[in-house]
Amino acid sequence: MKIAVLRETSDGERRVAATPETVKKLIALGAELAVESGAGASASIVDAAYADAGATVGDRAGVLGDADMVLTVQGPDAATLSGVKPGAFVAGILSPYANRERVAGYAAAGLSALAMEFMPRITRAQSMDVLSSQSNLSGYKAVLDAASEYGRALPMMMTAAGTISAARVFIMGVGVAGLQAIATARRLGAVVSATDVRAATREQIESLGAKAIFVENVKGIEGEGTGGYATEMSDEYKAAQAELVSSHIAKQDIVITTALIPGRPAPRLISDAQLATMREGSVVVDLAVEQGGNVEGAVAGQVVERHGVKIVGHRNVPSRLAADTSALYARNLFNFISAFWDKDAKTLVLPADDDITKGIMLTQGGQVIHPALQS
Ligand code: NAI
Repeated sequence: MKIAVLRETSDGERRVAATPETVKKLIALGAELAVESGAGASASIVDAAYADAGATVGDRAGVLGDADMVLTVQGPDAATLSGVKPGAFVAGILSPYANRERVAGYAAAGLSALAMEFMPRITRAQSMDVLSSQSNLSGYKAVLDAASEYGRALPMMMTAAGTISAARVFIMGVGVAGLQAIATARRLGAVVSATDVRAATREQIESLGAKAIFVENVKGIEGEGTGGYATEMSDEYKAAQAELVSSHIAKQDIVITTALIPGRPAPRLISDAQLATMREGSVVVDLAVEQGGNVEGAVAGQVVERHGVKIVGHRNVPSRLAADTSALYARNLFNFISAFWDKDAKTLVLPADDDITKGIMLTQGGQVIHPALQS
């Protein structure tokens, strides 16, 4: 089986879908690896490192010719894959809701497209979970981005010239990114508090040494839908949450929002009026900015200022730590491929009735087959 690794062409994408480590492991399984020249450059991996690991390195046409599987971070246009034979797999973070035409193009080309972000959140698939591996580092980076925009220090410092008080950091949304943001802000010495709609997160927040800020005595506090994800909250809950946040936020120096609801725009958590109550020089980082934003006034791809508060809206935060996020993403892909590797045939075999196949396969045999893309 020939596996091709492409150089990403999407704007601002610095990650790569394979590293010399995973190239070596895939070759050990019996695969042949071909890497497009320059694929790892923006993740600090030179072509020679892939060649040393056993891959051939060449131009895109050569890499794609005869490929049975193409590994990408963000899926390329179907036109880019025009030389790839029908039946080949294309794996990546394909964002199918935003890229329906592209997915239709994969189907028309006879490709089997695999959306890695649709990986079911079951124990067996934890090591293949790209949302977790990438969100974890986003949560970390969000704190560093906030710290670098903040014109003050995070830890309490006692100096000969006097004491500097610790920054107060509030994390809204305590999934994978939020938990890492709490841990990172704590390591930097901030006084940390956090909130979520899922009651199960209270214990997690407290176990990381942060204060849990929760709406109490309102129907719907459980807030947990299928698969451990959040659900849309009642109006009564939203009003109580807004009141709670208003009084808390005015006392915070840094707020990091990470709240998402699957299949819906990100919930609005901070209004312009609430921003105006924050102290001059405060920083708000909106990690949900590309999904509609948690913060009023946040702009994707920009750092803007409102009422003296900086609102950080970087796009594609995982790409800002490309060497590490690539390493984890590449391992997610390797773990997936090796779990479905047929040792005798030396190829990837995805049984149609497997929950993982059903979860991630978007197209097959010329059709868009994923139920979520049928309407
Ligand atoms: P996510 O990225 O979908 O959302 C981030 C957080 O925002 C969630 O904790 C959510 O409850 C919260 N949120 C949504 N609306 C909110 C609101 N109005 N106010 C405050 N917070 C709000 O979440 P992520 O990181 O993908 O994790 C979702 C769940 O999946 C968690 O329960 C996590 O433990 C679980 N998980 C399971 C895995 C597995 O079993 N393989 C792997 C990773 C996560």
